[in-house]
Amino acid sequence: AQADKGTYPFYMLKEIDEQPNVMRKLSQVYLNDAGEPVINDDLMTALKAADRLYIVAAGTSYHAGLVGAKLFESLAGVPTEVHVSSEFAYNQPLLSAHPFFIFLTQSGETADSREVLLNVNEQHFPSLTITNVPNSTLSREATYTLLLHAGPEIAVASTKAYTAQIALEAILAKALGVATNQPAADDFDVKQQLALVANGMQALVDEKDTFEKISKDALLNTPNAFYIGRGLDYAVSLETALKLKEISYVQAEGFASGELKHGTIALIEKDTPVIGIITQKNTAGLTRSNLQEVAARGAKTITIVTDNLAKDGDTVILPAVDERLTALLSVVPGQLLAYYTSLNKGLDVDKPRNLAKSVTVE
Ligand code: G6P
Repeated sequence: AQADKGTYPFYMLKEIDEQPNVMRKLSQVYLNDAGEPVINDDLMTALKAADRLYIVAAGTSYHAGLVGAKLFESLAGVPTEVHVSSEFAYNQPLLSAHPFFIFLTQSGETADSREVLLNVNEQHFPSLTITNVPNSTLSREATYTLLLHAGPEIAVASTKAYTAQIALEAILAKALGVATNQPAADDFDVKQQLALVANGMQALVDEKDTFEKISKDALLNTPNAFYIGRGLDYAVSLETALKLKEISYVQAEGFASGELKHGTIALIEKDTPVIGIITQKNTAGLTRSNLQEVAARGAKTITIVTDNLAKDGDTVILPAVDERLTALLSVVPGQLLAYYTSLNKGLDVDKPRNLAKSVTVE
C-alpha cells in the first residue's frame, strides 16, 4: 500500500519531515532500555569473524556507505571499504582473507548491487543487506537482513532512507565495537546521540522558510553550484549535490574542498554558489580558507556549520552532535535546498525526468 501524501504537496517534503521519527524508531527497534544494541547473534558472530568490511551500494545508498565506513572504522576498529556496485561487479578488488559484505539498498532491488551479491554468494562469503523493503530481492539473497523501518519512500530522490542507513550503521558499528571491546564504542552513547540527532533534525525541518530563501537567493537561477567539505563533510557534499542535480537540474557537484585549487576553481565565476559544509573540527579552518579562495574569485558562499565551530556570518547553524554523526544533520539543509529549488522552478519534485526510484537493469 502506497503511503498517503496527506497535506503535503510532494512526498519528498513529507519524507524529509519524517526523519526525526525515523531516528526514534530505529532506537526503539534496535536498542534496549540501557541503550545497548540488540542485534541477531549469528550476524554478530559473522561480523566479528571478519577482518574487513566491504560496503557495496549505488547512488544515495553509496553516499550513506561513505559515512558508515567511518563509523565502522572508528567505533569497531575494523577496516572498511566502500564501493559503487556497478564498478565492483566487474572489477572486483583484491579481497582480504575474511571479508564481510554489507549491501546498502533502500529498495533491495538494485540490479547493480544484486550482481555483486550473486558473485559474493558464489564465493561463499557472508553478507548483510540493509534495506527498507522486507522480502526484497537483496534481502532474500543475502545471509542476513536488517530493516531500515523508515516507512515507504515514494519520492525518487532518497532522503529518509539515507539518514536511516547512517543511523543503523552507527548502531551496528557500536554493537560490533562493544562486542570486540573497543573503548571508542563504549564511550559512544548511540541512544543519546540519536535522540540529539532527532531533535536537531526537527529544529532544521522547522526552519523551512530559511532554506526556501537561501534557495531563491542563490540556487534558483544558477546553471551550476558546488558543495565542498573534507572527510565526512565531503561525503555529505556528494549527497547534497546529487539531491540538487536530481530534482532541480542545476549542474551540481560535491568536491573535497582541498581539490578545488587543483582544477575546479577554474569554473568559479561571479555569483557561482559554493556551499561549504563544516562540521569536523580538524578540517574546519581548511574548508573556511577554501571558501575564502572562491569568494575572492566572486563566488557566492554559503556555510552550513555546527554551532561549536560557527563564526559570525555563517549561513546555517547545526546543533552539535557527536562528530561521527553530523552527516545526519548537515544533509537536511541540502535536502531542503534541493526541494525548494525544484519546487520554485515548477518541476515535478517527486518524479524527476529520466530517473527511476529503483533501477532493476544494469
Ligand atoms: C536509484 C534511485 C536513487 C537510489 C539508487 C540506489 O538511482 O533513484 O535514489 O539512491 O537507485 O537505490 P537503492 O534502492 O539500491 O538504495
